[in-house]
Amino acid sequence: MRHLLTVADLDADDLTHLLDLAENFAEVQRRDIKKVPALRGKTIVNAFFEDSTRTRTSFDLAARRLSADVVTFSAGSSAVNKGESLRDTVETISAMGVDAIVVRHASSGVPHQLTAWTDASVINAGDGWHQHPTQALLDCFTIRTHLGGLEGKRIAICGDVNHSRVARSNVDAFTKLGAEVVLVGPQSLMPASLAGWPVKVESNFDAVLPDLDVVYLLRIQNERLSSGLIPSLREYRELYGLTAARLGRLGPESLIMHPGPMNRGVEIDPEAAEDPRAVVLDQVASGVPVRMAVLYQLVGVGPIGKIAEAVA
Ligand code: NCD
Repeated sequence: MRHLLTVADLDADDLTHLLDLAENFAEVQRRDIKKVPALRGKTIVNAFFEDSTRTRTSFDLAARRLSADVVTFSAGSSAVNKGESLRDTVETISAMGVDAIVVRHASSGVPHQLTAWTDASVINAGDGWHQHPTQALLDCFTIRTHLGGLEGKRIAICGDVNHSRVARSNVDAFTKLGAEVVLVGPQSLMPASLAGWPVKVESNFDAVLPDLDVVYLLRIQNERLSSGLIPSLREYRELYGLTAARLGRLGPESLIMHPGPMNRGVEIDPEAAEDPRAVVLDQVASGVPVRMAVLYQLVGVGPIGKIAEAVA
């Protein structure tokens, strides 16, 4: 594996292998000194052309905890503002001798395009509505940690599926690891065609809640309102929000997940975000070991056989 562009490039064994690696790195996170020399001498550039809190910070920490040199580049403070093209920007970064470029961009397909312009490994940190593979991995890691695995688990992904790279990556990863996925939300926020999606669709949130192992809420972007896709945020919350009133329908061992940033009071009530079944901050915490695993796999010198050495 040279790049990580989409979950489609990974099979169940690849996913499991990365999650196993992440477990080794999760152990490093519990140490007093959370650093191993595995990527000493390697250089990683985080190239963020779109806003991010969680993803950028955790890629940054992941690289540092592997002892790589890391530079974080935000489009807002770069020569992109002077009109420099994406290609020139990437070739400029590459010319400095980097081993991996972690890229986030508002346009689908940019990470793939970058692979033609650089010899570095390219890692997709979210491209348009397309893919967010490390989010899928960290969500699988979180579920595995809490429920022991994904095989046979029932997971509902709720909300704005059509505009969500998280939904596309997660459906693929969850189902490859044996989970059953149901999409919940208004027709106007579902993809026009679900051909090839191994999912069921349900519009009655209350009906599915009691059978779920995981309820995964997606962020409702305000711009959906202005584009007329939902009549009002109040109505959305009533039909599809995980409200305080709905919490009683969810099983005692079920997990409440959200990739963040949350719109409290829209897709998730504050009571649900703070419920003991909510693992939103565990998802954030999983981001670091999972991204360490991805960087180690792509940039590291010795893959699985060397892991004991890497975390020693
Ligand atoms: C998501 C993203 O940016 O794709 N956030 C994240 O990376 N945790 C989801 C979102 O913005 O809705």
